[in-house]
Amino acid sequence: MERILDIRAALKRGIAELRDANVPSYTLVAELLLLHVLGHDRAWLYAHPEETVSSLDAHRFISLIARRAEGDPTQHLTGKQEFWGLEFEVTPDVLIPRPETEHIIEVALDRLAVRELRTGRRRALTGEDLQLIDVGTGSGCIAIALAKELPGAHILATDVSPAALAVARRNAARHSVTDRIHFLESNLLNALSVGARYIEPLQSNLTKNSDQESVVTIHESHSFDLIVSNPPYIGRKEKETLMREVRDHEPELALYGGEEGYELYADLISQAAQFLKTGGILVLELGHNSLPAVQPLLDLPNWTAVGVTDDLAGIPRVIAAERS
Ligand SMILES: C[S@@+](CC[C@H](N)C(=O)[O-])C[C@H]1O[C@@H](n2cnc3c(N)ncnc32)[C@H](O)[C@@H]1O
Repeated sequence: MERILDIRAALKRGIAELRDANVPSYTLVAELLLLHVLGHDRAWLYAHPEETVSSLDAHRFISLIARRAEGDPTQHLTGKQEFWGLEFEVTPDVLIPRPETEHIIEVALDRLAVRELRTGRRRALTGEDLQLIDVGTGSGCIAIALAKELPGAHILATDVSPAALAVARRNAARHSVTDRIHFLESNLLNALSVGARYIEPLQSNLTKNSDQESVVTIHESHSFDLIVSNPPYIGRKEKETLMREVRDHEPELALYGGEEGYELYADLISQAAQFLKTGGILVLELGHNSLPAVQPLLDLPNWTAVGVTDDLAGIPRVIAAERS
């Protein structure tokens, strides 16, 4: 590594090693890893091609290149991923946020805006008094993006994985929305129960009850305006078809919804029907083949105004419906 003297030479070597290992987008990845090591942005990189790389930085860079060549996702090496214009911490305990998941945010905001217009309110959508749920929050990217877009909204974010919730909590703190997101360890919405305590703790700071800190009790079942979820939806039978970066490095809990993939949707949709207000909105991300299994679940009498949004690749990616 001593032979690497400047940025240009370091990049050249990193690119060559990633290309030989068949890493997709090898030039971009080499740049990202070098930027991560040097702590600079891209503009700096190209303005200083002759800058010397210290032997310590060169060593760190080449060891990251080696790990990437062996299959570690770039985001596990840099510890971050952008989503909805915000930077999120990612670790091997959470799904790396995907660009197609941004369609959930778009659809949710569109539907909420239409609902506001229908009620005759024409002010900008702030989410004032709205109660939202994000099921399977992972890194917290959906809940936090919605909290930033809707500064008046209060959000309950659930995950079955305590390790994922720890990452989500740190991301909420990073984006200064901890006071409006309550994180709850729960299998789907099983930990929500109808009773006396909840909205107040959710709206102010939750005071934890040591015996029942994982139970959130709500005033009445139909309390929520919006439920969003990007559930695990890959079929276990597809495991061998996945890229090694995904199959060997992302959490199984975040990937597989069952043998077929779509197994969690039925329970998720029936729980959403129980917790949404009349006129409340459900927005779900879909796997590439989930639509035929999921669409029939969003039928009358519980659901109306069903809409499907394709992603940029033309795959039906998000399904939304209104609680009738
Ligand atoms: C596909 S990831 C989505 C993560 C994040 N919302 C995103 O969009 O990047 C699914 C998440 O659901 C969680 N999960 C899996 N099964 C669950 C269940 N039965 N109840 C609640 N969360 C679950 C996983 O731990 C994982 O964090």
